[in-house]
Amino acid sequence: MKTVETLAALRQAVSAAKAAGKRVGFVPTMGNLHEGHMILVDQAHRECDFVVASIFVNPLQFNDIDDLGRYPRTLSDDQQHLINRDCHLLFYPSVDEMYPDGQDNQSKVAVPVVSEGLCGASRPGHFDGVSTVVSKLFNMVMPDAAFFGEKDYQQLAVIRKMTKDLNMALDIVGVTTCREANGLAMSSRNNYLSAAERSQAGHIWQELNLVVDALKTGNKNFFDFTQQGKINLIKQGFEPDYFEIRHAHSLKPATASDQQLVVLVAALLGKARLIDNIRVDLSA
Ligand code: PAF
Repeated sequence: MKTVETLAALRQAVSAAKAAGKRVGFVPTMGNLHEGHMILVDQAHRECDFVVASIFVNPLQFNDIDDLGRYPRTLSDDQQHLINRDCHLLFYPSVDEMYPDGQDNQSKVAVPVVSEGLCGASRPGHFDGVSTVVSKLFNMVMPDAAFFGEKDYQQLAVIRKMTKDLNMALDIVGVTTCREANGLAMSSRNNYLSAAERSQAGHIWQELNLVVDALKTGNKNFFDFTQQGKINLIKQGFEPDYFEIRHAHSLKPATASDQQLVVLVAALLGKARLIDNIRVDLSA
């Protein structure tokens, strides 16, 4: 696997792959790679001939400078993971390469409605930072398809809407969340958990499943379910940020007639802010 740090070198490598008739798959990441990222690479291999990953800890999407500073940077381990999964090219740009005119002078992409509420409420500006960097990365890599984990459900919804609204000519592929044995969704932020917290963290998955079971009985008391979920998480030592039932596509608060739902949770446990979700299809 080749690692390139400049846009010029990236364009040269991708152009050569495209000239050879290859379909280019792209896995954007912020590094500290784990199995959850690797299954994105695997899926990219299934659907494409040339797989590009990127590692860029994007300052624009951090609203807390301490959070940005402590975000794990593990380049050589990450490169080894990508080599093990036969990734063809790694794009590893610097902040100057991504934002040559400075972050404040960078044109921004903002995606309305789906960016608002949920993580958008507790992390102001976060999704503008994500949509800006992802649209830049798409324009730099020019992939035929890009792969994102469904754990970051709101992020995936923002990227799908951005791609559609801005007529970007690529496929966005959502990949099922990779979980630990206790149901904990894999995330770079799990590194902030102690061993005890890591086993405790499986309660998020349990609480989500309790709400899904209740929804499947036909009961529409959305507020009661999510309130109970929050109370249960507090009893288990979490500090819930939100526990909500939304329409699966628009992410608007769910109504009694909606059939495509998603149940979403964000909660603090120790130093880690954990997020997770489950899709529910009530028409099935
Ligand atoms: O999900 C992430 O790792 C990041 O938000 C992304 C999509 C790579 C943009 O920086």
